[in-house]
Amino acid sequence: MRASRFMILLYVCMVGIPVLLLIYAFSYLFSQLFIERLVLAIIAFGLILYGILSFVDVYARKKGVNPHEVQIKLRFLERKKIEEGAPSLGKEGEKVVNLKIKRFNPDKKGLEESSYKMFADSLTTVLDMLLGVKASKDSTLAMRYSCRMGICGSCGMVVNGKPVLACETNVFKNLEKDEISVEPMQGHALLRDLVTDFDDFFEKHSSIKPGLYRVDEKEKYEPTKPYYQSKAELDKFLPYSYCIMCGLCVDACPVSNTNKDFLGPQALSQVYRYNADSRDQKGLRRIFDVDTLDGVWGCEFAGACSEVCPKGVDPATAIQLLKAELSKNLLKED
Ligand code: SF4
Ligand code: FES
Repeated sequence: MRASRFMILLYVCMVGIPVLLLIYAFSYLFSQLFIERLVLAIIAFGLILYGILSFVDVYARKKGVNPHEVQIKLRFLERKKIEEGAPSLGKEGEKVVNLKIKRFNPDKKGLEESSYKMFADSLTTVLDMLLGVKASKDSTLAMRYSCRMGICGSCGMVVNGKPVLACETNVFKNLEKDEISVEPMQGHALLRDLVTDFDDFFEKHSSIKPGLYRVDEKEKYEPTKPYYQSKAELDKFLPYSYCIMCGLCVDACPVSNTNKDFLGPQALSQVYRYNADSRDQKGLRRIFDVDTLDGVWGCEFAGACSEVCPKGVDPATAIQLLKAELSKNLLKED
């Protein structure tokens, strides 16, 4: 710490002072006007400030410090001090929340509960709190996240018994007597703490061949004209294309939780999505592939998948539409 301050001082002396002197010398040589000297002094001050900031930035990068992590760490270390002293000293609008985390311990093959007292305000999300725990209380806490804005779909976990995206879940709105509980999704294999294994989920997704199929492959990659769609054609599949593959629907689905071979609401909703797209030429082959007991007929229409979907995809309806499409074609064959 002392070394970095000394380096900054040295840098300011080496670059800032000569620049300042040079500018003042020029101002005396060419003008005696106060206003011009003032402008030059402001420019010099700006240059020195710029020099200091650049140096700090280069120094931080050299040390491999992520400025965002430092920011989080400082914020939570400051809160920790307050918490340890007197919780009532939190900033206005904040309160102390008891965060209970059930973490999966692969060595013990079970969940263990840890509790942390954390400050939260009306904008704090569950992911903010978990990052706070990681930064100030227990750096071993493992979780998966990336975008922090409900887009990447990687922060799925169970909060107060409901599968949600941690980055989109407000703490205050989910408090139960100043407590909030977090645990990993149980519908996917557990890896560590709040991290689950998505291999099976992605395999099921790939198995339905998600993508537009064209008879003329060459034309698909080198199209000679645009694929126009009417609004009605677009509306047919658009809501189902918002899936971010967070896996919450699979976690909420009672069939997926009891039958690991069931294709699951996410993959089945995507069968409907591609089948309903007027640009796709796979015909009925994609839906015939899921005409099985572990495919569409495994769905018992519990509806839990659609209830938890953060993007409003409604897999439950998609599966019923697939069943209707299959039944229609069976009747045709008869
Ligand atoms: S359908 Fe919804 S809940 Fe299921 S994976 Fe896609 S976005 Fe997530
Ligand atoms: S971190 Fe990307 S969806 Fe939550």
